[in-house]
Amino acid sequence: MSVTNHGEAGAAAPRLAKPRVPERPLSLLQFMRVLRDNSLATYRHEAYSADILERRLFWKRTFFVNEPSAIKHILLDNAANYHKTEITRRLLEPGLGRGLLTSEDETWRRHRRIMAPAFDHRSIVGYAPIMTEIAERLVAEWDSRPQGTALDVAAAMMHATLHIISRTMFSSDSDDIVDIVEKGVERYQAEVRPGLADLLELPVWLSRLGSAHHPERIFTEFDRAIDRLLAARERDPASQPKDLLARLIAARDEETGGGMSAEEVRNQVVTIFMAGHETTAQALTWTWYLLSQHPAVEAKLHAELGAVLGGRTPRHEQLGQLPYTRMVIEEAMRLYPPAHTLSRTAMGEDEVLGRRIPKGAQIMIVPWLLHRNPRLWQDPERFDPERFAPDRAASRLRFAYIPFGAGPRICIGAAFAMAEAMLILTTVAQRYRLRLKPGFPVEPQGLITLRPRHGMQMIPERR
Ligand code: HEM
Repeated sequence: MSVTNHGEAGAAAPRLAKPRVPERPLSLLQFMRVLRDNSLATYRHEAYSADILERRLFWKRTFFVNEPSAIKHILLDNAANYHKTEITRRLLEPGLGRGLLTSEDETWRRHRRIMAPAFDHRSIVGYAPIMTEIAERLVAEWDSRPQGTALDVAAAMMHATLHIISRTMFSSDSDDIVDIVEKGVERYQAEVRPGLADLLELPVWLSRLGSAHHPERIFTEFDRAIDRLLAARERDPASQPKDLLARLIAARDEETGGGMSAEEVRNQVVTIFMAGHETTAQALTWTWYLLSQHPAVEAKLHAELGAVLGGRTPRHEQLGQLPYTRMVIEEAMRLYPPAHTLSRTAMGEDEVLGRRIPKGAQIMIVPWLLHRNPRLWQDPERFDPERFAPDRAASRLRFAYIPFGAGPRICIGAAFAMAEAMLILTTVAQRYRLRLKPGFPVEPQGLITLRPRHGMQMIPERR
């Protein structure tokens, strides 16, 4: 197959970081070990191109669905038949409680309605100055460092997005919350890994047997910080900012008139803190990595920034004039989708691609596989932002690219995340070019989200 090289003007495309693909089927023991270490490393070659694959683990049947029309059926057309899985709950609820990510049916609808206005276009325009202010703070911090030294860009991006979520959603910029969450996320992903008992949906106590980990405890400090935030609001309700927290506290049920309980508010707050920062930070981290490997793409990005912004701080209304910047981030999320796996349980029997899906079966929709499916993407391993050029994007199948999911459970923060990623990228890229530290091992690791296993040591070079 001949491939036009859009990005690198004939230069050989660099080999991009990816996990090793198993040559032979894994034994159960190997499978469990690899799964806990990096779920993306369990996939063999055929998983990338098959429309649908079935995996049986004792009595548990799991279908990996990797075909756009079938994904549309599950996430949109017949979404009512598919709930989040028990395993998602086991991974998320010890820390997050039952918030918007894991609730179902009427509770989910009510909470989504309450929270939606905090994510609408007008609100996001209002958040933009906070986003750029925090990006500028990051640049100023780099300005004061000795030049030529490496830093962990993954950690720097997390720090920035965490401050942004804290300020925009909860009007709180307290460093103690940011500190607590930073340490918590690291430990949570290290400790909360699925075991065989979880895959088989055996009782939770059984899956915890022999484990020294108590993920709930990671959040004790965080809960105290949220309590302090709530108590401050109660003491002085008149001067409450009109933010997401105020919305959660004020929300009343249309039918009963009752408000959210303290625990419900807490669960939503933790959910937004967690869902709202790490994924965007990862999207940016992988974008910096890809730019560092593709100088021609980087040069084109710089040219766009120069022409549109000319060194000035970006404003939200300018984002529409930065199509290439958006294309770069979109292509980065194709290759490294921060939410690498979506899973569902069939509540009733169904048929997908001619296969009978029994009630109780698990469905895995894996953007990591879908976005690299050679039947959907030409030369899928190559970083080529031109795939997302408006004329080409229009002819692409809508359900072949789902970094934010799709259907009613689509990411509530998608527009927020895109604005945030673009504002941080443009602010930083106007001042710095990031070079990967020579010899640094980059390895994508699929835990709850898609992180670089060793972080991302890069050297910021002033432009
Ligand atoms: C690049 C950044 C982001 C990515 C890749 C991402 C990805 C996703 C995906 C794939 C889902 C759907 C999961 C499923 O269907 O099983 C989702 C849901 C969700 N996301 Fe995001 N997200 C990002 C940023 C954000 C931000 C910034 C926020 C909040 C400020 C957020 C909050 C949520 C919430 C609350 C849900 C659950 C929505 C529901 O079920 O109604 N996300 N996200």
